[in-house]
Amino acid sequence: MIEQLKEIEKTALEEISGAEDHNSLNDLRVRYLGRKGEITAVLRSMGQQPPEERPVIGQKANELKDKIEQLLREKENQLKEESRREAWEKEKIDVTLPGKPLFRGRLHPLTLISEEIKDIFTGLGFRVAEGPEIETDYYNFEALNMPPDHPARDMQDSFYFTSDILLRTHTSPVQIRVMEKETPQIPVRIIAPGKVYRRDDDVTHSPMFHQIEGLAVDRGITFADLKGVLLHFAREMFGENQKIRLRPSFFPFTEPSAEVDIYCVSCGGEGCRVCSHTGWLEILGAGMVHPRVLEVSGYSPEEVTGFAFGMGVDRVAMLKYGINDIRLFYTNDYRMLRQF
Ligand code: DAH
Repeated sequence: MIEQLKEIEKTALEEISGAEDHNSLNDLRVRYLGRKGEITAVLRSMGQQPPEERPVIGQKANELKDKIEQLLREKENQLKEESRREAWEKEKIDVTLPGKPLFRGRLHPLTLISEEIKDIFTGLGFRVAEGPEIETDYYNFEALNMPPDHPARDMQDSFYFTSDILLRTHTSPVQIRVMEKETPQIPVRIIAPGKVYRRDDDVTHSPMFHQIEGLAVDRGITFADLKGVLLHFAREMFGENQKIRLRPSFFPFTEPSAEVDIYCVSCGGEGCRVCSHTGWLEILGAGMVHPRVLEVSGYSPEEVTGFAFGMGVDRVAMLKYGINDIRLFYTNDYRMLRQF
């Protein structure tokens, strides 16, 4: 019996040290130490041995059990250590490989142009004002001298929530909101940048686009002041040789009114496809604030006058950057946006 245990010990040692993975170690554990394992078998058959030998065999068998258990544990640790090292080797990093490029965020072209326009006017003493994008009929139309049946309302196809509430179709309502708040203080000098909405959608019109409104109210403001400010703007924005041209026009909230053109940025006034061979590009609407508009906002047209203007930021950006489809601003194509 003792011989049998020695035999078991010998093969167990060999097999454990030769085991290559956790599974085979487990098999060995079952084979030697399990309930139906070889050592258990020896202990079970002890009853057939002479009584004086039994304690010796029992002791040897238990010692062998302990020994095998310890060997299994050691082998287990060794295998773990090996697989850890292997994984480590595989994970090695080649520090000489080129890095992955990091894309830096950048400002949207409309943000850039907006900032540029704001800088030009704040440099002249204008302050930035804001108003809501969801407006009432009163501020968007009525206070701007467009009563309910006024034909000028048709010029702007609007998005309505109710018959009285709509998405603002222009930034002009900010004029009213500012004057209501400031009256009777003068001077008022603000620009109001923001989103506006119209039911339009083609290469040069987007249902949502951007405007910047300007307003100056003071004693003795004249049309010449308006012209001077706009010429200054055109030169700052498009170059010091820029010229502007004012064409008589109509807006319900200004009198007189004008549409303002600059020399075509594409051909410099020669005439090309961009300017429909006229040499000029329209960039904004402007005029002297209508006396009624001053009045409803709390200012006396007897004491003060004012000028106002409104320009399309998207249009200015398209001209300045030579972009021919307004929708490019709103489709988030990185190939386009990364150029700015
Ligand atoms: N609100 C006009 C529009 O959206 C633009 C405009 C014209 C604004 C003349 C003005 C102005 O302040 O004086 O078409």
